[in-house]
Amino acid sequence: MHGILGKHSLLLVSGEQHKKLRNVAVSFISASKATADFHRCLEELCTAMMESWKGRKEVSFHKEAKEFTMSLMVKTLLSIKPGDVIGSRILEDFLTYMKGFVSLPLYFPGSPYAMAVKARARLSSTVKEIMKERKNKCISSSGDDQNRISDDHSEGVGDFLDVIMGKEGSRWGLSDEEQVSIVLDILLGGYETTATLMSLLVYFLAQYPIALQTLKEEHQAIRRSKQDGEPLNWEDYNQMQFTYNVICETLRYGNVVKFVHRKAIRDIEYKGTHKKVTPFGGGARLCPGYGLAQVELAFFLHHLVLNYRWKIKGDEMPLAYPYVEFKRGLLLKIEPINNSIN
Ligand code: HEM
Repeated sequence: MHGILGKHSLLLVSGEQHKKLRNVAVSFISASKATADFHRCLEELCTAMMESWKGRKEVSFHKEAKEFTMSLMVKTLLSIKPGDVIGSRILEDFLTYMKGFVSLPLYFPGSPYAMAVKARARLSSTVKEIMKERKNKCISSSGDDQNRISDDHSEGVGDFLDVIMGKEGSRWGLSDEEQVSIVLDILLGGYETTATLMSLLVYFLAQYPIALQTLKEEHQAIRRSKQDGEPLNWEDYNQMQFTYNVICETLRYGNVVKFVHRKAIRDIEYKGTHKKVTPFGGGARLCPGYGLAQVELAFFLHHLVLNYRWKIKGDEMPLAYPYVEFKRGLLLKIEPINNSIN
């Protein structure tokens, strides 16, 4: 695993280094999920997906879900806009990188493991290039606020890379290598997991019309309470109680992350209650992104259920491959909903 993830990876380090890197990830992710910038970016992606389906009868959904979550992550972390060439390059390298995770660690030319190690090196160079550009810009624009490294994303406090390269980053004392590694770790944690859950939601909802109808009513009520085209916000999200239940139930059914096996490094006294479902891990390794993933999925479901009906071919099914894949890529037959609520 060290060969693929690198020695500074949050997923591998323990003790003080883990605590430090984890704090960096937790503070940014928890702050982002409730910001208007994040909601705007998320809704733009939802709307773009719905728009891109116009005039189509079928969509291969699982691929779209992966592109969606990758676009959201690279925009939030690195300010890479959807459709940028660099974003597609990162997605491609990420797919190769992730295949290596579940392969035998045999390093010979062309083996999945060797290709993943190379893909990780390319990803690392891509992030380093972006860091270099921002440092150069910062030097050439002397007198600017030193906490803002890049100047091409004018809203909010900047992206994650801005934060870790600025004053906040120095407070945590992150080395350049740690900065690169934490960007890639958050991408790794946040992209495939959320895309899989997104696909499983679409898959299960198609089979439970009563749940789908209740979900739709929840989102229709929220839409009715707003002006035409008014964006969703944190208060709306907090109204999505049934949506939250649907997400939790899908997680219970779906078993999204199944190949992370942890060993305790020391004995602990056990006195808590026994939890049967722990889709976000637990303890010191509890997923810092679960709240953000829930907002992402809730906003997506809002747009989906208000804009389209969908059906899935009878023999479609999720396969543990070991990542969750779909027999036909989750091919949906879609039909737009023409109602006045939208
Ligand atoms: C449905 C969505 C998600 C699921 C099911 C999920 C699941 C998990 C699980 C089971 C772990 C613990 C793994 C371990 O023991 O090492 C974990 C860790 C992690 N997740 Fe998530 N995750 C999701 C979304 C996200 C998102 C959106 C982000 C980032 C924005 C994220 C970032 C991370 C990070 C950085 C870790 C490592 C934490 C640490 O080692 O301290 N995850 N996730």
